Amino acid sequence: MRDLFEKIYKDKGPLGKWASQAEGYFVFPKLEGHISNRMKFQGKDVITWSINDYLGLANHPDVREVDANASQEYGSAYPMGARMMSGHTALHEQLQQELAKFVNKEAAYVLNFGYQGIMSTIDALVGKDDIIVYDVDAHACIIDGVRLHMGKRFTYKHNDVESLEKNLERATKMAEQTGGGILVISEGVFGMRGEQGKLKEIAALKNKFNFRFLVDDAHGFGTLGPTGAGAGEEQGVQDEIDVYFATFAKSMASTGAFIAADKEIIDFLKYNLRSQMFAKSLQMQLVKGALKRLDMIKTMPELKQNLWKIVNALQTGLKERGFDIGTTQSCVTPVYLKGSIPEAMALVKDLRENHGIFCSIVVYPVIPKGLILLRMIPTAMHTLKDVEETLHAFSSIRERLNSGLYKRLSASVAAAMGE
Ligand SMILES: Cc1ncc(COP(=O)(O)O)c(C=O)c1O
Repeated sequence: MRDLFEKIYKDKGPLGKWASQAEGYFVFPKLEGHISNRMKFQGKDVITWSINDYLGLANHPDVREVDANASQEYGSAYPMGARMMSGHTALHEQLQQELAKFVNKEAAYVLNFGYQGIMSTIDALVGKDDIIVYDVDAHACIIDGVRLHMGKRFTYKHNDVESLEKNLERATKMAEQTGGGILVISEGVFGMRGEQGKLKEIAALKNKFNFRFLVDDAHGFGTLGPTGAGAGEEQGVQDEIDVYFATFAKSMASTGAFIAADKEIIDFLKYNLRSQMFAKSLQMQLVKGALKRLDMIKTMPELKQNLWKIVNALQTGLKERGFDIGTTQSCVTPVYLKGSIPEAMALVKDLRENHGIFCSIVVYPVIPKGLILLRMIPTAMHTLKDVEETLHAFSSIRERLNSGLYKRLSASVAAAMGE
């Protein structure tokens, strides 16, 4: 018999195998200073384009004050226990009511973490006779939620309504045999490439098929729609979303999440979400902090306006300079370049060391081989000067990439990696 750890000693996994070349710099980097448009990385000032603080609330003085006061009042433990047992409070209820109203649903339920919360939502919504149909590029939390499902599941091609329709036909046939129902899952905004889920087209399929629709709107909440209620509001189909999910980890600049739906559905879910029934409730300083943040999202439209001013300047500037930013329809701003992984590493090093630009880098196997994706998240904190400096830096790194400089600089890394 083998030692359980034997495989771990041999194979660190698809990302872990890069640890010796990447850790501390490309992965697990340590950004220092207050969360802001400018922070420090390895002692150098950098413009940060990799923090999902869309509305700039993370370090807003009013938010900091409420967070600090709530922490002073309640400490970090209160309330103890799961919501169902001893972790429930009037403020959790107030937050739920306000969230539900904001996203135009009858009821909401606050979750301690988004990832586990949506997994449990999927788990609770489907039984073994039901069928899940979901976008193949769905976030890991959706995939893990689907993994819990004991029945059939189908993926449809990314944001491809024709493929969804084909899979709904298959799912409908199957559901007729099993006697179950169908759950369709999409994201409101796909966080890597920035496209909005085709919520309107998907919702229109309800005329032809019988299914319920769950949307993970992590990146849409606070950033899209006239009031900031997200991708459903933006596309005019919020009512067609049967279960709406968003995390506090992005526009709300905090921890926690929520689901919103008809009251009867939320009443069911709050008794059936295993990750909430058997785990500690969201702490009070986070609940109070969420109430403050939500109030600011509702009453300070200038936050979203500032955000979009930066998004538009960055995306237009990149396009005008001939950069490929793909098909983004949101704040998420990807820049696609051609190059190998070692070249990508040299390029990012140049961006950080010589231009003071910090953005995320995504390479194969997350995207096709030979492509480099630099992913930028603009925020309301950024300035037009940040955008200008960044555009200038991007033009410079593209020139160097095309001249073969990064290939030469990374030749030894490439040899070591067998590239
Ligand atoms: C699309 C999406 N769904 C869910 C989550 C998980 O949310 P949380 O960070 O609250 O666990 C994330 C990441 O934050 C996300 O990007």
